[in-house]
Amino acid sequence: MKVLITGGAGYIGSHCNRYLAAQGAETVVLDDLSSGHAEAVLAGRLVRGDFGDRALLDSLLAAERFDAVMHFAGFIDVAESVAEPAKYYDNNVVKMKTLLDAMVAHDVRRIVFSSSAAVYGEPSYVPMDEAHPTAPINPYGTSKRIGEQMLADYGRAYGLASCSFRYFNAAGDAPDGAIGEARAVEHHLIPLVLRAALSGKPLKVFGNDYDTRDGSCVRDYVHVEDLAAAHYLGLRYVAEQGGTSCFNLGSSEGATVLELIAEAGRVTGHPVPYEVAARRPGDPASLIASNEKARKVLGWEPVRSELPVILRDAWNWEQHRRF
Ligand code: UFG
Repeated sequence: MKVLITGGAGYIGSHCNRYLAAQGAETVVLDDLSSGHAEAVLAGRLVRGDFGDRALLDSLLAAERFDAVMHFAGFIDVAESVAEPAKYYDNNVVKMKTLLDAMVAHDVRRIVFSSSAAVYGEPSYVPMDEAHPTAPINPYGTSKRIGEQMLADYGRAYGLASCSFRYFNAAGDAPDGAIGEARAVEHHLIPLVLRAALSGKPLKVFGNDYDTRDGSCVRDYVHVEDLAAAHYLGLRYVAEQGGTSCFNLGSSEGATVLELIAEAGRVTGHPVPYEVAARRPGDPASLIASNEKARKVLGWEPVRSELPVILRDAWNWEQHRRF
């Protein structure tokens, strides 16, 4: 199987690229390296370029006979999407349409898409299953929701088979320390908790007055290696079953920010200093996935998504980062 991986130099894409290659797939990574890292591409060939560049897509798809595309390239910062929605609709919607049009034109009719739990918006119940209403509360979530809708419509009209994965909180790094989370500006909780453990500078806990067991927000952390395994299963599912489908990817376990801080203290051997700050706008109190559908339909079984394992792998990466 030959697969084009957009955003394959980024955090989740690079783990999936490596995993797919280990399963015997031939991969080509298309990434403009605006936030990804060439060093993270451990398998296949890296083509440096924009996934929304139709001429580049035409030459790539004409030259290589891809069986499928995995589409990871996209902007992911919720706050930035509120401040600069045009950037998010351009990248996550307009360019995605260009990619889909090129695929249809070159008869590549299978795609696995990085969606997000952000498509659900404020939860009306947890754990959330895929039938939960989708009512995104920021342009990032809306852009992913539109991406899913385009896939459904292109499926009906042009026979494009797709599978969208709604990630909860992707976390952890390669257990061997080869690749990991590396952003120019970090906003995600786990890297920041580990940096607080390393530096002794306190982490800000955004709110301790939520209606949760200790007042801090509950999130569902899922290991990036488990995400990679799910993508491989999703690719096979799309190839065998066709259609349009979506799956939650989460551990189905919720941890509060304060529980995570305590666990990080145990794993690292350093107490994590923190101070309570105001709530961050737009943060729901609790986000937990039901992962039953992915388990039943894809046969997915998360094996590294317990919090201590995620934190151990992340701690290893944070201390010995290669890029
Ligand atoms: N948090 C802190 N202090 C920090 C950083 C985060 O207390 O310095 C808290 C947040 O308030 C939140 C939790 O830690 O309760 C997790 O925050 P992250 O920023 O790590 O992750 P989010 O849950 O906000 O975001 C995730 C994905 C997004 C996605 C979003 C909605 O990272 O890409 O879920 O589904 F859009």
